[in-house]
Amino acid sequence: MDKKLIVKVQEDFQERFTNEPILIFSPGRINLIGEHTDYNDGFVFPAAINKGIYLAIQKSDNGSCQVFANDMNELYEFNLNSISTIQNGNWRNYILGVVAEIIKKGFKLGNFDILFSGDIPSGAGLSSSAALENSVVYALNELYNLQLSKKEMILISQKAEHNYAAVKCGIMDQYASMFGVENSALLLDCRYIDSSTFEIDFKEYELLLINSNVKHELAESAYNDRRQVCENVAQILNVDALRDATIEDLNRIKNKLSEEDYQKALYIIEENNRVQLFSKAIAKRDLNTLGELLYQSHKGLSLQYKVSCKELDYLVDKTKGNNNILGARMMGGGFGGCTINLILNTEIPLFKSYIADAFKNVFEKDCSFYSVKLSKGTHLINL
Ligand code: GLA
Repeated sequence: MDKKLIVKVQEDFQERFTNEPILIFSPGRINLIGEHTDYNDGFVFPAAINKGIYLAIQKSDNGSCQVFANDMNELYEFNLNSISTIQNGNWRNYILGVVAEIIKKGFKLGNFDILFSGDIPSGAGLSSSAALENSVVYALNELYNLQLSKKEMILISQKAEHNYAAVKCGIMDQYASMFGVENSALLLDCRYIDSSTFEIDFKEYELLLINSNVKHELAESAYNDRRQVCENVAQILNVDALRDATIEDLNRIKNKLSEEDYQKALYIIEENNRVQLFSKAIAKRDLNTLGELLYQSHKGLSLQYKVSCKELDYLVDKTKGNNNILGARMMGGGFGGCTINLILNTEIPLFKSYIADAFKNVFEKDCSFYSVKLSKGTHLINL
């Protein structure tokens, strides 16, 4: 968390709204392994990070709600009794979505002012949207003493994403952002929304994120399409979700599926298995196995599930053959965003300069690098 940024958010709020705000930090997330398994009731292994959304909020007697996005210098004003999605509304829809879902649950809210800022670039695949949703639901829960549990809050955030951003996401991002634990990753069972905490110590290795700085259009509809395929296959298998199927089960109905759909479902079953193997390898501190599983995950995401892109494939390929990098894969929903790399810490400067040049040569644009700390989930800040 960036202390300077939260002080700035506080001061800018005081200046703009002449009031004393409540302050909240809500983190983004990384995911070690388990991609697209969350909406199949499966397992994922995310962690909250020390970058996210910084939000200031207070009640207002102005007759409307005002939200100021500090980084974009954009003000949005709305009325609590006429909320609906806005076309191309971007950040506005996440806020409206959360407010609408809270109201839908029967809670009464009064008017409020919000000012927020962030230090994760949107489109990086670090879940700035889940961080924003969680910051708003957490803030309103505090401000109006709604007595929502953390679990209820993340379900509100998820519904906001479904109904206001039209992405039928799973629960991983909202969960990781809300429940994150310092220096730890969470092995999350998405069916029961329950996790075990694993302290992460990769010894002399570190996680390095490389942002491809691409976000391909139609990523949202491609995401929803994948979800639909998984649900269809689960239905043919006569199970609630692909989490309940084995590879043998899938093979039994192979002739009822197109080759593409078979590969997608196979990927999900295999990735679910990889999450289990990964958690065992973490417990044994078997870093080589972790690295190998990252590479396998990427291969599946790229060739079977088909959610990678040439930039991400390139970034992963370039790590192969480097003995100081144990594994790498694309992270998050795909079609752009970051790769996650398990790399020897002394190798980082050299590899960064190598890959930065190579990437620029091929794609004529820059990639960016982030080193993150695993952090506590959404919380109040007392300055
Ligand atoms: C996005 C979604 C998550 C999850 C990942 C892929 O981040 O919001 O729910 O499905 O993609 O693992």
